[in-house]
Amino acid sequence: MTMSQVKTVVQDSASVVSAIESRFSCRAFLPDKPVTRQQIDEILRIASCSASSTNTQPWKVYVLQGDRRDALVEEVCAAHDATSADSSLTAEYGEVDGYYPAQWVSPYIDRRRDNGWGLYGALGIGKGEKDKMHAQAQRNYRFFDAPVGLMFTMERVMGRGSLIDYGMFLQTLMLAARALGLHTCPQAAWNNCAKIVMPFIGAGSNEILVCGMALGYADESAPVNTYRTPRETVESFTRWV
Ligand SMILES: Cc1cc2nc3c(=O)[nH]c(=O)nc-3n(C[C@H](O)[C@H](O)[C@H](O)COP(=O)(O)O)c2cc1C
Repeated sequence: MTMSQVKTVVQDSASVVSAIESRFSCRAFLPDKPVTRQQIDEILRIASCSASSTNTQPWKVYVLQGDRRDALVEEVCAAHDATSADSSLTAEYGEVDGYYPAQWVSPYIDRRRDNGWGLYGALGIGKGEKDKMHAQAQRNYRFFDAPVGLMFTMERVMGRGSLIDYGMFLQTLMLAARALGLHTCPQAAWNNCAKIVMPFIGAGSNEILVCGMALGYADESAPVNTYRTPRETVESFTRWV
């Protein structure tokens, strides 16, 4: 690249901000509004522009659509139903990966709880309504009806830094989806079924599941999609040194 090719101005900065601010975790998609392979390819190409430490690009993406998507959904939903009948099965389906802290502390546990109750509130699910909670959890394993499911893995040998790189890739991917009018929901829920997902998608034993993601067009009439999450103020997490 020559100096004259270095771009210092973003022509449409409002669009960049709009893509960021219009992204939310979409939990109801239009199942029959198709997403083309060309769109998925373009989103992945844009995502691949993400930064990664020493340009290691640790991401590996598996795309599920049509019959293969549906087959995984059925298998995992059956397993999910089985775990609610016998919780000892949980260990059989998930990999122990330390995704969440072993011990939750404030303020994170409080935000986590608020998020759960906020979501249940939008869905009209009250305390103790275990069947409804189970059904909502299972919506994850249907990719919230999105026609496209994505699975993200990386090689086990990679370190903690690669997960930082991965976060950048995922966020860029979600913003690229917005640029094409699509919505997403990143999904750690799939990690609970990693032992089913990994062989299904053909991932090697040298790979770990990072997370899944639903991709498609938002169902704008679904109440769950009206739920928006709050953010802490800049002052609360910033110290001017
Ligand atoms: C890596 C990751 C995994 C997530 N896993 C799930 C999930 O399994 N199911 C779900 O409904 N939301 C999931 N979320 C969505 C978060 O709950 C959501 O990002 C957070 O509450 C902020 O809301 P927003 O994305 O709408 O801004 C996940 C988000 C991230 C970044």
